[in-house]
Amino acid sequence: MQKKIDPWGSCDVKDYDKAMKEFGIEKLERFPKRNILFDTGFVFGHKNIRAVLKAVQEKKRFAMMTGLMPSGPMHLGHALVVEQMKFFQELGAECYVASADIEAYLTRGLKRDELAKISEDYFLTYIALGLKADKCRFYYQSSGSQEYMNLSKFLAKKITFNEMKAIYGELSPAKIVSALTQVADILHPQLKENGGACPVIVPVGLDQLPHINLTGDLAYRFREEYGFVKISATFQKLLPGLQGGKMSSSQPNSAIFFSDGGDVVRKKIMGAMTGGRKSVEEQKKKGGSPEICPVYAYHLLFNNSSSGKIYEKCKKGELMCGECKKELANVLVKFVGDIQDRKKKAKNELGKYFR
Ligand code: TRP
Ligand code: SF4
Repeated sequence: MQKKIDPWGSCDVKDYDKAMKEFGIEKLERFPKRNILFDTGFVFGHKNIRAVLKAVQEKKRFAMMTGLMPSGPMHLGHALVVEQMKFFQELGAECYVASADIEAYLTRGLKRDELAKISEDYFLTYIALGLKADKCRFYYQSSGSQEYMNLSKFLAKKITFNEMKAIYGELSPAKIVSALTQVADILHPQLKENGGACPVIVPVGLDQLPHINLTGDLAYRFREEYGFVKISATFQKLLPGLQGGKMSSSQPNSAIFFSDGGDVVRKKIMGAMTGGRKSVEEQKKKGGSPEICPVYAYHLLFNNSSSGKIYEKCKKGELMCGECKKELANVLVKFVGDIQDRKKKAKNELGKYFR
């Protein structure tokens, strides 16, 4: 039997090539526009991306839809999802971005007023990170349109409990409602009120694959009633935690949050795990291992223009980890500081994204 992914559990993939084979995810082809997320293999696979590429080529309407659960504070890993949103926005996508507040209410122990606060913080961060208001709509699952709300319920008609169990494993009423709400999120850009059928790209982590598969099935089953066409998805890796394992809100030292002050960012990076040797002498003699070094992974994604040189110097034993971390700290202290400043200004712009 195929291994199942639990979108509400943990999903720490070690071998992405294996996962792609196992879950029928395709390797990415060349994009018409370059981007470090794709160049570095951080976005590692897709389903049905061709529909989107075709729309780009033929200058036809297409959409990007994604969302995040408002749970912990936003960290650098989340910024990379936003990078993808921007990438597709710049390619011409209409953008729909959800706060999955219904899902968070149902599956996490958060109160509704807390969810509203966290969601707003997420939305402000999206703006600060550079998502533009043009052709872009933010919304809360809990305040979607009537048609969207109806869709999230009507979907239940064409899926059985056993089919859902085959996709998700253990189920509960809360999980079923969360899943169908997410399918409605992904399909609603194709509702008549939003312009009708079009390719929709959904950038997500691999943990969301079950939702993507369920959406694929339901889009097909409702193709006549609603006119839906097949959806597309890209899958991106998880940013490694600073301590080597997962980046997680519950382990503050594993992640850099956008709420962290400069000193905290610096301290976390200086305390990060590396692929360095035990002693300076050994590092000079044998060089480090950037391939397994979280500090290097951050250089690659957030300090890309210098990462080639860093890799080389690390390998040759010409770069010591302390110095390497200092450089990264400088880059990220500035990055996080800039986002904090822009978030303040974003407050005045928030209205433009809710139309
Ligand atoms: N389930 C997603 C998460 O856990 C959030 C989400 C809700 C979402 N609706 C979506 C993601 C639609 C992509 C597309 O973060
Ligand atoms: Fe990692 Fe930098 Fe040390 Fe190399 S020098 S192992 S890239 S921290």
